[in-house]
Amino acid sequence: MTGLENKIDKSKLPCHIAIIMDGNGRWAKERGSHRIFGHQNGVTAVKEAVEGAGELGVRYLTLYAFSKENWCRPQEEINALMDLMVSTINSETETLIKNNVRLLVIGDIKSLPESIVKKLNEVIERTSLNDGLTLIVALSYGARWEIANAAGRIAEDVVAGRIEKEAIDETLFSKYLLTSGIPDPELLIRTSGEFRISNFLLWQIAYTEMYFSATLWPDFRKEHLYEAIIDFQSRERRFGKTSEQLNCD
Ligand code: FPP
Repeated sequence: MTGLENKIDKSKLPCHIAIIMDGNGRWAKERGSHRIFGHQNGVTAVKEAVEGAGELGVRYLTLYAFSKENWCRPQEEINALMDLMVSTINSETETLIKNNVRLLVIGDIKSLPESIVKKLNEVIERTSLNDGLTLIVALSYGARWEIANAAGRIAEDVVAGRIEKEAIDETLFSKYLLTSGIPDPELLIRTSGEFRISNFLLWQIAYTEMYFSATLWPDFRKEHLYEAIIDFQSRERRFGKTSEQLNCD
C-alpha cells in the first residue's frame, strides 16, 4: 500500500476519529502465543494511529483501550494491560510533547489503579497546552455508564435548583457527558472484522460514519487509517436530509 496518503483530501478530514481496537487476542492466538503478546504488539498500532492522525492534521482521536466490561477478563490479562498502559505512557510522554499532542482520558477513572491515575494526571497536565492532535484514551469506559452518570448528575442539579427541568435538552445533556466540549466523532473505525459498537460512545455516534476493517489491531498501520479516511471521504453525509436538500443549503 503506497501513495494512499496522497489520495486524502486534506481539506475534508474527519475532525474526530474514534477507534475500537480489536483483535489482539486472535492475532496472538494465530501465532500460538498468549493474548498478552497481542496487546504488547497492539502498542505499535496505537503509535501508528496516533502518529498518522497527527501528521494528517486530524483534530481528535479517541481510542477504546479498556472497557468497563474488560474488568471481567482474567486477572493476569488485566494486570498485563494495566502494566502496558503505564509503560507505554512512560515511554511515549516525551514523543507526545514533541509532537504537540494533548492527552485526555474518558472513563470511570476512580476504578483504575492509583499508579495509572497518577501517571495519567501527570501527562494530562504536561500536555494540556498542546494544540495539535487531542488524543482521548477511553479507559474503564462504558457508554451506558457514562449516560446514566450524566442523567444522575443532571437530576442532582435539578433537585439542588442549579438548573430548571425545562432546560434539559440534547445540548445540555451533552455537557454532562465525559466528552463535553469535544465534537462528536465523524468516523468510527473497528478492526478485526467484528460489526459491533460494544458500548462505545453510544450518544456521540448518532451520525458517525462506520468503517469496519478485517485487519487485526496489531497489524493496523497508517495505511489502514488512510484507507478508512479515503472511504469516509467518498460518502455523502445527509444527517437525515435528502441529497437535494444538502445541495441547496
Ligand atoms: C481488544 O483486543 C484490545 C484491547 C481490549 C486492549 C487494547 C489495548 C492496547 C492496544 C494496549 C495499549 C493501549 C494504549 C492506549 C497505550 P481483544 O483482546 O478483545 O482481542 P480478541 O477480540 O481477538 O480477543
